[in-house]
Amino acid sequence: MAKVLIGFMGAGKSTVARLLSKDYIDMDSYLEKTLGMPVAQFFAQEGEARFREKESSVLQTLLHKDTWLATGGGVVESPHNRDLLRRADCVIYLEAGFDTLYQRLCADRLNQRPMFQQLSKDDLQDLFEKRQVWYQELAHLTLATDSQTPDAIAATLLKLMAHRD
Ligand code: S3P
Repeated sequence: MAKVLIGFMGAGKSTVARLLSKDYIDMDSYLEKTLGMPVAQFFAQEGEARFREKESSVLQTLLHKDTWLATGGGVVESPHNRDLLRRADCVIYLEAGFDTLYQRLCADRLNQRPMFQQLSKDDLQDLFEKRQVWYQELAHLTLATDSQTPDAIAATLLKLMAHRD
């Protein structure tokens, strides 16, 4: 079963997963291959609700893979996805305060994130607060990432997993 990284946009889920295993799976990249277009384009053409449906079916498949899985920040929006994650045996919340996340998102020129582009800062903070409850509820382990480098976070996780196996 997959070891799953959850957290808001900008938490470092994909960056950390890449450091954890060469076989890691990034859900957004996997989705882009399935959709045949970038996530931002799919959002613009089909809307968020259709994106969430696609995200759900991909999550179900990917949870069976025996590797690290970096999810998209909105994976917790769907009750069905939350049920799937409740059945997973290793869910890790990469946590950071909203101000840190917002700064990281503003500085990130590589990723096009529709939720970040469409929402005001206040609305984004409301979204963060709503989702944070789900991240906390679903996580078997929470790691604070505000002042940690991705390398340090990955090293901590690998150490914890070595004790667990
Ligand atoms: C989303 C987060 C994105 C991506 C999509 C929607 C969200 O992933 O799945 O743009 O709703 O928070 P990241 O968390 O990797 O940016």
